[in-house]
Amino acid sequence: EKGTKKSVYPLEEEPDADTVGKKVTILFGSQTGTSEAFAKAFLDEGRTRYNEEVIFKCLSLDKYGDDGEVFEAKLKKEQIALFIVATYGDGEPTDDAVDFCKWLTQLSDDKGPWLSELQYAVFACGNTTYEHFCKVGKEVDEKLSTFGAQRIVEVGLGDDSKVQEDDFNAWKEGLWPQLDKLLQREIDTPPTPGPAYSISIPEYKVEIHEPGTQVYQRVFNKSFKSFKRNRVIYDAQNPCNCAVAVRRELHTELSDRSCTHVEFDISNTGLTYETGDHLAVYAENHKEYVEEAAKLLGQPLDLIFSLHIDEFSQDPKNANLPPPFPGPITLEAALRRYADLLSPPKKSVLMVLAAYASVPEEEARLKTLTSPFGKEEYNDASGGVFRGVSSTWLKNAVPTEEDQDNSSWAPIYVRTSTFRLPVDPTKPIVMVGPGTGLAPFRGFLQERAAFKDSGVALGPAILFFGCRSSKQDFIYEDELREFVKKGVLSDLIVAFSREGSAKEYVQHKMMQMASTVWEHLSKGGHFYVCGDAKGMAKDVHRTLITIIQEQDYVDSSKAEALVKQMQNEGRYQRDVW
Ligand code: 2AM
Repeated sequence: EKGTKKSVYPLEEEPDADTVGKKVTILFGSQTGTSEAFAKAFLDEGRTRYNEEVIFKCLSLDKYGDDGEVFEAKLKKEQIALFIVATYGDGEPTDDAVDFCKWLTQLSDDKGPWLSELQYAVFACGNTTYEHFCKVGKEVDEKLSTFGAQRIVEVGLGDDSKVQEDDFNAWKEGLWPQLDKLLQREIDTPPTPGPAYSISIPEYKVEIHEPGTQVYQRVFNKSFKSFKRNRVIYDAQNPCNCAVAVRRELHTELSDRSCTHVEFDISNTGLTYETGDHLAVYAENHKEYVEEAAKLLGQPLDLIFSLHIDEFSQDPKNANLPPPFPGPITLEAALRRYADLLSPPKKSVLMVLAAYASVPEEEARLKTLTSPFGKEEYNDASGGVFRGVSSTWLKNAVPTEEDQDNSSWAPIYVRTSTFRLPVDPTKPIVMVGPGTGLAPFRGFLQERAAFKDSGVALGPAILFFGCRSSKQDFIYEDELREFVKKGVLSDLIVAFSREGSAKEYVQHKMMQMASTVWEHLSKGGHFYVCGDAKGMAKDVHRTLITIIQEQDYVDSSKAEALVKQMQNEGRYQRDVW
């Protein structure tokens, strides 16, 4: 959890129009903070490089504007705009970039070169193991060019499956000389060399407090009042603190993996959701890692401290970034809730550590790791068992049904999704969800059960589920069989990948049922896929095309066009990661 967005505003304030000479605007679309960190690092570097000669500002795309008119008016006024945008899920923009990207990509190419005054560059964050690598960044780059904006450097492509920081630095190093030219920097004053890796880590003063000092407590559900006026909106900046009501392991003891079922108690919170939505949960670091970190720091867990920025500092690097927590806090709570203890440190962080290292050999080692010589060593995995923050927290959460007084709780909020049942419940549905991909379909089936109970007529529904074996990870088996019995689910088809001599996956089962699948889809049915994007969703997509080819007697391009059409009509929906 980083500092709340609101308090970062001073970075994002519009400069006074009269004082504007040359300006560079950095706009980012970020889901988990990577693009945001790159954008802010660039901001820091720009401010250092140009002192006050150029006004740099940096803000997320949702803070930039919320409708087409605003975007258009603002972009027309920009001189140089840099976009650092990530691609998320199934080739989608991040939450904060949805409005901007929707507007830009849907804008007709006939609009002409209305952006010809703008100079721009795009860095796209993505991951090559996914189907739509850097799709959003590439689209933004192309559209801006279509509208006459002048590309300063080629779009940079960041690959998170490798070291994305290296890609960003390569893009940035190519961009600076071009920016220097555009901003007509005096050639005889050599630009201040930037650091090898951009550092965007604000410096804080640490104050240690007496034992017994009142510590900062998070307020439970601050918007509860506005809820009474019927207006409760929980989001990433304003999540709702909820207790874990139920937690149970879904795999059997025969499985060497784990899958956790968790229910949160949302009573009296006003929190609402629709079937198919996602729940975001702010997890915490596990006790064991917190204790280890405190030991490495040589400080007791109950140490109470606070962080402060130097408000009178002239250093733009101190850029008013508030500390992540507003008041005194115990070291235990700071490490548990606010520190990233498990990710490999970024190269920029190693640079900062090197600057503070008191042992010369350690400083040299840290610097080597960030240098080209240390590249391989840096990329090498540690070989240790990695326990993810969220899965570990969920697995160990104490539910109220076990311990009412000491149950676990977390700030949560609902991320709306586009994954929805057909408006007409008589339309057939075909669902493909192996492993945890089953999650939204449980919701779909529960909703259909409720429809059925209230007398609504339902169309047929098939579910393709896949797991390793019936004795290990056939999750929710009883519930699914019950749905079949009730007539809520017409066909439950399960692929067991590790029971027979050959692997059997959901797509193999789809092929076996090709005529049924086609029968439903040709009658205007909806096709849903949820789960792994890297392998499963791609294979299922190809299988769908093959089924249409064979069943409809068409060639592959016609089948692909049909699939495209289904996507455009919202009849082929994917929720994959
Ligand atoms: P496996 O682990 O035996 O390879 C849920 O995780 C199920 O999805 C498992 O049975 C897993 O099989 C299977 N799975 C793995 N890769 C897949 C793919 N490319 N397509 C479909 N299912 C896959």
